Amino acid sequence: MSYIYFDQAASSFPKPKKVGEAVLEAINDYGANPGRGGHTLAVRANDVIFKARKTIAMMFGEQNPANVCFYLNATQALNQAIQGVDFKEGDHVITTSFEHNSVRRPLERLKDTKGIKVSYIEPAVNGKLLLELIEQEINENTKAIVVSHGSNVTGTILPIEEIGMFTKVHDILFVVDASQTAGILSLDMKEMNIDMLAFPGHKGLMGPQGTGVLIIRDHVDLIPLIYGGTGSHSEDVHQPEKRPERYESGTLNTPGIAGLLAGIEELHSIGIESIYEHEAQLTTYCLERLSVIEGIQIYGPQLHETRLAVISFTIEGIDVHEVAMILDQHYQIGVRAGLHCSPLTHSLLGTEDGGAIRVSFGYYNTIEEVDRFIDAIKEIKSFF
Ligand SMILES: Cc1ncc(COP(=O)(O)O)c(C=O)c1O
Repeated sequence: MSYIYFDQAASSFPKPKKVGEAVLEAINDYGANPGRGGHTLAVRANDVIFKARKTIAMMFGEQNPANVCFYLNATQALNQAIQGVDFKEGDHVITTSFEHNSVRRPLERLKDTKGIKVSYIEPAVNGKLLLELIEQEINENTKAIVVSHGSNVTGTILPIEEIGMFTKVHDILFVVDASQTAGILSLDMKEMNIDMLAFPGHKGLMGPQGTGVLIIRDHVDLIPLIYGGTGSHSEDVHQPEKRPERYESGTLNTPGIAGLLAGIEELHSIGIESIYEHEAQLTTYCLERLSVIEGIQIYGPQLHETRLAVISFTIEGIDVHEVAMILDQHYQIGVRAGLHCSPLTHSLLGTEDGGAIRVSFGYYNTIEEVDRFIDAIKEIKSFF
């Protein structure tokens, strides 16, 4: 029996074949250090990286490819975005209880080290009321709003377009965590007034692990988190002003970025609308079948509300970790149980004690796999 992978919200799998091929090609054919020399192989590596920057810039509505900075994951990108802001004591940041720990922990650290104040907005599980609550929370010290575009627990999509209009009017820095939406929903930084956009390469963009991106608009100046070799301006003791080097010290993950570029090219050839449609179809089907099983509690938006392909649920009387273990060991179905690095979301849902079981779908999952999962859940229920 083939293994069913329903943990796409953590990392997408399988990757398109071209992704692995591009990674291997980088390692085997031009494994030189990009930006660290003028020889043929370094130039080839550099060309691939530049093409990736250009493709990503175009995809997310940014004109300047030099504003696309590469990191190892979304967490590093978010840390650069949040801890790179020159916050002063008393500055105020608004965020939400849907955030992942990669937003919450850097903010909590800034609370401790710099004395900033952080407000966590608690919208409804379908994202409604967020704008009104943000408006109530805003004050003259509000310097930034940091919001995830989509929840990795409930699949809720947050209204970032409206928040962007609001931050523009109030001249507040707008940081968006697009970890669950990059490659799935279209995003245009300019149109949506997003100042910094962070996302992983290894989820919806179908790239390999070890890839993450932060796009920093021209007008945003950050304090770099990492200082060191950039392959340019070596005579200068200070970090260069020039981007992307300013925010990218150290050798880049060329094989990973080459794979990411191949993933994005594949995604464009499928079309992100088709990907969303397919995932939405699986999600609706799964929700319909799950919701009629007695003793199952599903969290998040209602059945026909627009959402991401992420479903969290619990089964009355059965520990969530036990369910995940049985699904894996007995049925060869990979899901994720627990708090999903987002304890505040679970508090919002009332599942903070043990968390929930999360299934998340991707483009390569099928209706037949959902059927096998539903049959497994029914059988597990009947054992207890
Ligand atoms: C909403 C959200 N933000 C941030 C992250 C962190 O991403 P990464 O694992 O690439 O650091 C995740 C990963 O699950 C996520 O779902």
